[in-house]
Amino acid sequence: MEKIVSLCRRRGFLFQSSEIYGGLNGFWDYGPLGVELKRNVKEAWWRDMVTQHDDLDVLPGAPSTYEMCGLDCTIIMHPQVWKCSGHFDLFVDEMVDCRETKKRYRYDQVRGRWAEAKGQKLFVCTMAENEEEEIARRAQKFFKLRAKDADQIAWDGPITTLDKIGDTSQALGPDASEPGTLTEPRDFNLMFPTIIGALAGEEGRAFLRPETAQGIFVNFKNVLDSSRVRIPFGIAQVGKSFRNEITPRNFTFRSREFEQMEIEFFCHPKTSKEWYQFWRDRRFKWYIDHGLAEGRLQLRDHDPDELSHYSTGTADIEYAFPFLAEGEFGELEGIAHRGDFDLRSHMEGKLDPKSCPLEVELGEDGKPKYKGSGRDLTYRDDLTNERFTPHVIEPSAGADRATLAFICEAYTEDEAPDDKGKMQTRTVMKLHPRLAPLKAAVLPLVKKDGMPEVAKDLYRALKAKFPVFYDEKGAVGRRYRRQDEAGTPYCITIDGDTLSDKTVTLRDRDSLEQIRVKLDDVVEEIESRVG
Ligand code: GAP
Repeated sequence: MEKIVSLCRRRGFLFQSSEIYGGLNGFWDYGPLGVELKRNVKEAWWRDMVTQHDDLDVLPGAPSTYEMCGLDCTIIMHPQVWKCSGHFDLFVDEMVDCRETKKRYRYDQVRGRWAEAKGQKLFVCTMAENEEEEIARRAQKFFKLRAKDADQIAWDGPITTLDKIGDTSQALGPDASEPGTLTEPRDFNLMFPTIIGALAGEEGRAFLRPETAQGIFVNFKNVLDSSRVRIPFGIAQVGKSFRNEITPRNFTFRSREFEQMEIEFFCHPKTSKEWYQFWRDRRFKWYIDHGLAEGRLQLRDHDPDELSHYSTGTADIEYAFPFLAEGEFGELEGIAHRGDFDLRSHMEGKLDPKSCPLEVELGEDGKPKYKGSGRDLTYRDDLTNERFTPHVIEPSAGADRATLAFICEAYTEDEAPDDKGKMQTRTVMKLHPRLAPLKAAVLPLVKKDGMPEVAKDLYRALKAKFPVFYDEKGAVGRRYRRQDEAGTPYCITIDGDTLSDKTVTLRDRDSLEQIRVKLDDVVEEIESRVG
């Protein structure tokens, strides 16, 4: 992972935010190559899911045709949105502090390590002995999920049973030293508060959105009334979200400012399970189509005790990021069957979720703690006259996590000949051509004999179509290497032969194959290859 982080910085994919002031934890800036890569990830998602979706044909696995449209909502919304969505009360992480080091941890990140002792496969939690029973009880629940295959869950620290099992200190690794004794877990709301205008106190208090989804729900009726969409249909949105993560970590994987690519798909309750299955499979395939190795991806269905109370099904698309331990996966995207929970919450409001955590419906004489909009967010089918509250399937992806996964997958070290034909180790970013920041580089072999002139004309013709790089400095082998690190799929070299036979060399980044192509055909050739 260190090599990937170093390449990202060196070649301008990613920088730490406010780096000249020492950086800001959990915030990242995309450099010249990174910004193009991330734009391509978002653009590919938007085109595949929205603008190029074929709404006249039934896609494989879909119960019927469907329509898609887009939306771009504000980051700051009416504070009532977050009360009715549940975020105001329930969007919390449990936080613990280490009494010795004073470090703060997200409770579910308290580290554990696999170990083996006396033939038993152990999951050793790096926590002190469970003098506080409540911590142990909650940790057991979490670690049980994380360490399903363990013969036993053991505790690191002054615990006697460990001594009986054997010495696990070898297997514990550097994390064994932290954390020590932990405080009680406490709730910490992840929403970033802000103030609107000059109003002080509660009146002016608002939040930066922690997800883009709610902007879609509150605009459901606007979209219905202003367009001709009929159920089933989806509304998509790409945009920034903010979460005051307790422990941002693993490069951009857990950031405090990030971008989401979300779809809220509205359908009839009767077909919702089929749509859930469709989206689950379709989204999984999307990552494979863009270059993630199937062997490093998994589609994990949530266990019933992991599901939100309103969800009848949730699956995570997960990737084996290189910063994770062997066998561990990190979430790229969640696909959730949310039922009618969100639309109903925004219609009816919410009871106090603390006293009544599992119920959103009003009690017989109960009044909602948070008043809903009171607007009718039901749907009337004009063909059957049936009125119902649509069910929602939500494929929710992170643009930064997807970008990071594509970067990790692309990073390769292999061997290639240098200018003298000697094999050397090369670093190459094998990005899918559709995602690559630069699609091609144009390289005149030497800066004379009319080669730069021909190269510049070709560069301009290509640049009219997509991002291209022009480079005439240094040995051609070194120029190839720079493009390999940038992930540029094709290099076009203008040489002596070009001037006589009007052909160029087209070099393929991954296979290193070099072919001659007619100068007049280059633009079309590259266009067809990058899609
Ligand atoms: N509307 C549902 C929702 O927001 P989520 O699982 O909390 O669900 C969806 O977030 C996706 O957003 C995640 O799968 C992940 O890719 C991305 N994401 C969430 N928190 C993130 C963070 N702190 N940093 C980067 N990406 C994050």
